[in-house]
Amino acid sequence: MADLDLQEIHDFLISIAQEAGEMITAAYPTTSASGTKKNSADLVTETDRAVEKMVSTSLRQKYPHIAFMGEETYSPGDLLTSSPTFIVDPIDGTTNFVHRHPYVSISLGLAIALVPTIGIVYNPFTRTLYSGIRGRGAFRNRTTPLPLTTPPPPFEDLSSCLVAVEWGSDRSGNDYKVKSQTFTRLCAAKEEGGAMVHGLRSLGSAALNLCAVATGELDVYWEAGCWAWDVCAGWVILKETGGMIVDANPGNLEPRVDGRRYMAVRGGEGQKRIVEEFWGLVEGKFEVGL
Ligand code: IPD
Repeated sequence: MADLDLQEIHDFLISIAQEAGEMITAAYPTTSASGTKKNSADLVTETDRAVEKMVSTSLRQKYPHIAFMGEETYSPGDLLTSSPTFIVDPIDGTTNFVHRHPYVSISLGLAIALVPTIGIVYNPFTRTLYSGIRGRGAFRNRTTPLPLTTPPPPFEDLSSCLVAVEWGSDRSGNDYKVKSQTFTRLCAAKEEGGAMVHGLRSLGSAALNLCAVATGELDVYWEAGCWAWDVCAGWVILKETGGMIVDANPGNLEPRVDGRRYMAVRGGEGQKRIVEEFWGLVEGKFEVGL
């Protein structure tokens, strides 16, 4: 494949995100127009499907040689390869969308050789656009460079951090236990073996969580169970701000984009210490993605 024009692809993805945003804000999802996938907490709406159709049609027309992976058309067993691949979540935060809670985004990523390389995340309700190209920086609304504070403040320890976590839609078994016990430990007082973080947030969009870590509005985001389309775009934006993305299980500093276990830490002196401190608090080990 000839060299890809990353800037052109980035600009095209922004135009698609804006078109998708109009579809999303014009839609009136109701629980009767939505459906469930795996269980009653794993929602999909007609708008998710319609947006993915529009995105995949536009991308296949303009870039027929670039592979496509989308949340609503993924089948178990579809593997992400090292070929350039668009990785798309038409609505990240579907549960919020159904409830009309405005923490919703469209997430458009491009991975090359499995490395997230272009990321566009757009919240059409707040009209906030995050974008980045690997090696070329990340921006909010195209002009504000990220992170918002430069240099980012140094870390003390987890007790001064605002941490995002997600409950996800799997509500039983080992991984649910790892999450819920770790959440308790993150919040608990230090005398009781906890980290006593400033607060835990469970906001409902992995892509926007990653962007909030990139801007510096969150310090850490930890989740297992989400998918490449939830994180590919935000990953680029985060890394371009000096943020780290590592495994949610202790030990692996180089997770795969489709590894399904992630911890993001904003840029700032001491970020590796935060990773180690957090890993030391994880209660057990996630099985997803192993
Ligand atoms: C979900 C969101 C949520 C995360 C879930 C994802 P969806 O994506 O990103 O924050 O906890 O794991 O599935 O289903 O709204 O596209």
